[in-house]
Amino acid sequence: MSKSRRSPALALLAVLPTALWLSATGRAGDLALGEYLSAECVTCHQISGRQVAGIPAIIGLPEDAFVAMMESYRRRERENQVMQAMAVRLSSEEVAALATYFGSLKPRE
Ligand code: HEC
Repeated sequence: MSKSRRSPALALLAVLPTALWLSATGRAGDLALGEYLSAECVTCHQISGRQVAGIPAIIGLPEDAFVAMMESYRRRERENQVMQAMAVRLSSEEVAALATYFGSLKPRE
């Protein structure tokens, strides 16, 4: 188990580009890419933020929380066949872009 643990220095190297990007733009992901990829998601998730038929709202979430949820589907820690299938197909960059795009949306009536 401890074999897979990365050294703090390596972990820092891994987050550094993201941190620099964040400080430069205030956003972790590519907003335009996120909007493009969201087309598939909004066939189920309401862009208005309404929860419909047991499908949760996913807009206005903190980006790190959104990414963590997608990660838990990808690692199959969270059960849901549809979302697991969605999450495994997406790269980390795409998930970050989706997190930025959906996170930027505000609930509306
Ligand atoms: C076929 C319908 C469908 C599609 C398409 C879909 N989702 Fe989901 N999504 C669901 C359902 C149903 C759940 C609730 C699953 C559960 O109970 O864990 C969910 C849950 C989620 C959650 C967790 C929300 C929370 O608060 O717990 C996130 C984040 C999410 N989806 C993001 C996405 C993204 C991003 C896409 C597009 C790449 C997408 N979904 C496409 C049906 C869908």
